[in-house]
Amino acid sequence: MDKNRQNRVPFVAALEEYVHRQMMPFHTPGHKIGKGASCYQKYLFGGALARDLGLMYALDDLFQPEGPLREAMQLAADLYGAGRTFFSINGTTACVQAMILAICRCGDEIIIPRESHSCVMSGLIMSGAVPVYMESRFAQKEQVSLGPDMDSLQKALDKHPKAKAVLFTYPTYDGIACNLRDMAAYAHNKGLVVLVDEAHGAHLPFHEELPDTALSCGADCVAQSTHKLAGSLTQTSMLHCRKGFSGTEKVAAAMALVQSTSPNYWFLASLDSARCQLALQGTELVGGAVELARGLRNQLNNIEGIVSFGKEILSYPGVSGFDETKITIDFSQIGFSGRQAELLLRQQGIEVEMTAGNHVLALITIGDDKQSIASLLRACQKIACGKRRNSIDIKEPSLPHPEIVISPQKAWNGKVEAVPLTNSEGCIAAETITFYPPGIPVISLGERVTKECLAYIKDKLTYGYIPHGSSDKTLQTLCVLNYSDKEGR
Ligand SMILES: Cc1ncc(COP(=O)(O)O)c(C=O)c1O
Repeated sequence: MDKNRQNRVPFVAALEEYVHRQMMPFHTPGHKIGKGASCYQKYLFGGALARDLGLMYALDDLFQPEGPLREAMQLAADLYGAGRTFFSINGTTACVQAMILAICRCGDEIIIPRESHSCVMSGLIMSGAVPVYMESRFAQKEQVSLGPDMDSLQKALDKHPKAKAVLFTYPTYDGIACNLRDMAAYAHNKGLVVLVDEAHGAHLPFHEELPDTALSCGADCVAQSTHKLAGSLTQTSMLHCRKGFSGTEKVAAAMALVQSTSPNYWFLASLDSARCQLALQGTELVGGAVELARGLRNQLNNIEGIVSFGKEILSYPGVSGFDETKITIDFSQIGFSGRQAELLLRQQGIEVEMTAGNHVLALITIGDDKQSIASLLRACQKIACGKRRNSIDIKEPSLPHPEIVISPQKAWNGKVEAVPLTNSEGCIAAETITFYPPGIPVISLGERVTKECLAYIKDKLTYGYIPHGSSDKTLQTLCVLNYSDKEGR
């Protein structure tokens, strides 16, 4: 990486230059640099409305970049060690969809972890690819997924030797990194394309004790949410293709398929400037976040009854790295589930990223400082000093094995009806139902609703877990494929 070039922000500079020329706009957006915007928008966005531009060929084209955008994306590729990088104004969701669309044709098999993010399912619906699940391991004590291991990949490939690609989530939401290097090498050896959802990994290159990046582990194509753990605006991500990856041109075409033809230049400028910030200050900023997280974790573990697991998670077989900036805080020893703890923290002005069975997940990023860490710590201390309850033991029932009947795309295109859940055994599900924990679907689009699925759902509902993904939030009814719809099968 050439540091002298990395201090350039070509797209930000081009946008600023354009704004200062004060051109008279006879183009979209209709508010015309803010003049026609509502009072509320003027109050909210102020002078930024002058930069609310998109589809300006004067400023380069996201889908056929030849000027400042091309340079901005090349600088991002250089920073991350990619052959080519694409900017996304539709998050990692679009990047994941694009990489699946680029690689898989209708009917192709793709090996994925069962707990993949919902954008993977949307990529399958769009492409017509058929999922093959590799099993993930679940750490009962910590209540987190450890992701798949080599054994689960080998088993999936033995049964489905014609699979076209494998997709990993790396690291997981909770910061756990599977042994991607070995698994990517194995998959390549068998002729598969290796795709990685690295939504939680934009900061990884900037601290040596964070997990290795997916690209450095040999991935072909990596989707990364710059907005999640680096400093760009929400909704902005990058998709990296490794040097020499033969599918790069198809990925470029697919990125145009899944994004707006009017990409907002705010978003693109925000990616350019976040890349520059990381290049120039990433080591210092991410290093600071890691230090804050380490201090916080130590202090949390000194509070009686509160547990925040750390690098000991590496002792589980198949775990190759851990992102210490992900702080899970387990309140179960003082009698609170993750959901209850989330509410208690909210009462004290603290909002966490996610809750699961026995814990909440707090993210420590380049935006944190000693004050924010102290506030979170104080809130946890207050909960621990409050009225204690008996410790609770949250055990995860084992998930039923999925029985795939038709592809997600066929299920999506089928006629759907809502039937009482109790009458749904044997039907083909037309929606994906997930409970947290474990964050792994009990049933997915196109799968048979079995007795085991229904028993699992009943168990979860009895304990007050909220189903995600169901159109009926009470799950009294389930959307299934209409039996009279022979076409859909
Ligand atoms: C693992 C994973 N993949 C993909 C996504 C989608 O990312 P984005 O919000 O950038 O579209 C998320 C979002 O939470 C995620 O956690």
